This record gives sequence, structure tokens and C-alpha cells, in this order.
Amino acid sequence: RQLLVPRRKSDIPVVFHWLPIIGSAIEYGNNPLKFFLSCQEKYGDVFTFVLFGRHVTVALGAKGNNFVLGGKSTAFGAEEAYQHLTTPVFGKDVVYDVPNHVFMEQKKFIKVGLTTDNFRKYVDMIVEEVEAFLENDPAFEVYQTGDTTKWGQFDPLEALADITILTASRTLQGKEIRSSLDKSFSKLYSDLDGGFTPVNFLFPNLPLENYRKRDVAQRKMSEFYVDIIRKRKEGKQHEDDMISALMSQEYRSGSPLRDHEVAHLMIALLMAGQHTSSITSTWALLNMAAKPGFVEALYKEQVQYFGTADGKFRSLTYEELRALPLLDATIRETLRLHPPIHSIMRYVREDVPIPPTFAAPSKDGSYVVPKGNYVLASPLVSQMDPKVWKKPSEWDPYRWSDPEGAAAQALKTYVDGNGEKIDFGFGAVSKGTESPYQPFGAGRHRCVGEQFAYLQLGTILATLVRKIEMRIPTGVPENNYHTMITMPKNPRHIHYRRRVS
Ligand code: HEM
Repeated sequence: RQLLVPRRKSDIPVVFHWLPIIGSAIEYGNNPLKFFLSCQEKYGDVFTFVLFGRHVTVALGAKGNNFVLGGKSTAFGAEEAYQHLTTPVFGKDVVYDVPNHVFMEQKKFIKVGLTTDNFRKYVDMIVEEVEAFLENDPAFEVYQTGDTTKWGQFDPLEALADITILTASRTLQGKEIRSSLDKSFSKLYSDLDGGFTPVNFLFPNLPLENYRKRDVAQRKMSEFYVDIIRKRKEGKQHEDDMISALMSQEYRSGSPLRDHEVAHLMIALLMAGQHTSSITSTWALLNMAAKPGFVEALYKEQVQYFGTADGKFRSLTYEELRALPLLDATIRETLRLHPPIHSIMRYVREDVPIPPTFAAPSKDGSYVVPKGNYVLASPLVSQMDPKVWKKPSEWDPYRWSDPEGAAAQALKTYVDGNGEKIDFGFGAVSKGTESPYQPFGAGRHRCVGEQFAYLQLGTILATLVRKIEMRIPTGVPENNYHTMITMPKNPRHIHYRRRVS
């Protein structure tokens, strides 16, 4: 229906394209960074391109992030932009399937499950899962022999996908999910995930086999969670996980969150956290392995903070983990160079003028984004902007320790998800949307999972660094943009050797 909205005249430059409906889809899909940078050179920070019939107005840079992410919900809607992709995967009555004010309440419920108390308990659980993975996964056969002279190889994309789902289910998702991972649940997960692709985003109504599988998997997975919820209710059982946190929540109206809503929020969290976190740890390891000296610096940081007199390590704690400068910078820098979500979109609900202080056609005129367009912010572009970052395409965690550097400046305008500066409240407009560094988004739709992601990523990376040396003779792989989340192309095998401990 949205495709049929009559186009209003807008003087925002439109990217030249030969094919009417397809527009610039191929250039954008193949390499969004290259596409955006070449458009920026020709048209400036604001331009519109055609993406399979949709008119997408791109707003680049920190000011562009601010324009899109700080926009009012009456003007920009995430629901229209994402619902057709997410509702079939997450299920009804949650996230973009409900009006924004209802989802804002649901986001608050999710925050209740993300407490520091829970996080403290999660650290040991994540360490245990990573250690067990090294001891059991066939890719780590050389590690398992105990030989500290031989090198083995593993595909980080595969290993980290497994480690991420194992650790997320052991902690947030709950023990019932963790114990079903080797059985039926992983098949359901993979069918559901098969329906979470750019094709599903662009063509929601194709009669494809993976859509049918996705729908069956969604129903079964929803029933699976509902069954857990019922059993917990019957047994009056409480766990330190998200299911229990959500089960105890009530809407402002006084009605409780219904079982299927808890189930669908759990699926949403599973999907929102899985690829984003697993791909971040994958890129972190790939970049680290390309600079083996850096892996050793991280190892030394572990020794300095946690080393014991007998040459071993004591356990990580949540508070200490948060205060490790190099590990923190590793994650931050990886998210700068490889933000998993390169494009953030909204549907334009009313004509929206662009502030002339950001971009204008002339001294006296101003641009208006017409109703019916989409707007797009790209953290990837602002995080690679050579006007902001020195040697932007270089992965250099040390840039975060320079108090005068661009990274430190970027953080001044960056509001982290931890506390009073972000308000997910009904009708509230969040601050802090103007920063060149936005891997977790900003404004009302900002990520709720940032702290959990840092905890999960930090613990996984620290545990791996303690256990193995790493290098990658083939260097850091290129980006594959053809998936929802930017993946590394092949070759990408990391060589590892067990540390003497
Ligand atoms: C939203 C990134 C991990 C749950 C977002 C957004 C971004 C993002 C960019 C904003 C999307 C938009 O404005 O359209 C990331 C990254 C992660 C990560 C880079 C890891 C490195 C997680 C985890 C969870 C999670 C672990 C759950 C535990 C959510 C939710 C939203 C969100 C619920 C809200 C969507 C909305 O309000 O529209 N994330 N995320 N994320 N994320 Fe994350």
C-alpha cells in the first residue's frame, strides 16, 4: 500500500538510476558504504535513492543521525519500516506489531530483566559455557589434546554463533531453552532465522519455502515458550532470567503481560541479540588475530588485573570487567568499524522539514522530506567519517585511550544506555542523538541490550584470550553486505594455539 502513496515533489536530490523500480538497490545492497560515500560526494549529506519502489532519504553524519534518530514518533515510524519483517518472526502483539507507546512499555519490562544483580551472576555462567565449548567443539580438537605447541584452526563465524546462543540461553533466555539447544530448539531457531533476511525485508509476500518454514517455526517456538511459562506458573518457580522478569510485569492499564506476549518478546530478544553480538565478537577476534601483538596486550591486561601468584587467573567479576580499558576499547573499536546494523530506517508519516543548519538547497531554501518516503541514518558512515576519525578504516583500539582524540570527543555526545539520560518513557523524546558514534542507535528506539552485549562480549573475549593465542595469516576478511548483518567473507579461519597454563 505504501508503495502506491503518490509521490510529492521534493527538491532533495534523487540519486541517478537507470532502472525505474529497482532504482539503486544493487549498488546499495552490494556495498552500502561505497554507495553512500559516492552519493555524498555528488549530492552532499542528504539525498534520496530508490529501493525497489521505496523512496529512501538518507541523512548522513552526526547531524543526519540526529535528524533521523531524534525525530518525533508522530513524524517517523519504525513500525511501518520494520513490521513486515519482524512480526512474522517475533509474533503478534509485541515490538513493531503494537503502537509505539505500547512497545515503549514493553521495553521498560525488558529493562527489569537486565539488572546488575543478574549480570553479576551471568559472568561465571558465560565463562563456563566458553570453557566447555573449547573442551568439546570439534573445531578445537588441537586445544583438547592439551598440546601447547601445535596450531589448529577454527571459523570464528561458526564458533561465535554457537558460543553466543549458548551463553545467551544459559543467562537471559533461561535454563529450559539452554537444555533444549541440542534438540528441537536449534532447528526451530534456524528455520526462524531463515526468514530474517534482506529478501524478507524487501519482498514480504513472496510464496517462498523459507517463509512457510519461518511461519511454522514461529508457531512452534511461541508454543515452546508459552509451555515454559505455564509450567513456571504452576510450580511457582522464579529464575534470575528474562522470562521470570517479564512474567511479573503489568501494563500501566493494570493488565499483565499475556503469556504469548512474554513468549514473543523472548523471541524478539533472541533474534535482536544473536547476530548482533555474535558478529561483533567475530569481527573483534578477526581484527585481534590480524594483530597478534594486540592479543598479547589483552592477555597482559588479564594477567595484570586477574593473575594469581601461581600463574593462574582468578574469576572475572562484572564490576572489574567493566573497568578493563583495553578490552573495553576492543569492543568499542570493533563496533565503530563493524557496526552490525549499517542502516537504520523509519517511515515518514508527515512532511518533515530538514533544519537548514544541517542541509539546505540554497541560502534561503530548505528541504522537506515528503510523507510516504523512508528516512535512513547510517552509523557506519559517521563512524568512518575521515573528517572525524584519524585513519578511519584502521582498527585501532588505542584511539579510545587518547583523551583529546576524536573517539573521546564522540563519546561526549554519546549517551550510553545506562541510566537517566535515556528515557524510554511514554511520549519522552530522548536526548543524545547527535553523535558520530551510534552503533546501538539513539533516541526512543535505542538498543536496550547494550549492557548485556558488553557483558557477553567482554566475558567471551577475555575467556578466549586467557586460553588461546590467535593469528590470521590471510588477514582481516572483506565485508559481505548481502546479509541483514554485515558478515566476514572467506577466507576467515583463525589459527589458534593453546596457552601454557
Ligand atoms: C535496538 C544494535 C545487542 C535488543 C537496537 C538498535 C541498534 C542495535 C542499532 C536500534 C535500531 C533502530 O533504531 O531501528 C545492537 C548491537 C548489539 C545489540 C550493535 C550488540 C553488539 C542487543 C541485545 C539485545 C538487543 C543483546 C537483547 C538482549 C534490542 C532491542 C531494541 C534494539 C529490544 C529496540 C528496538 C526499538 O526500540 O525499536 N540494537 N544491539 N540488542 N536492540 Fe540491540
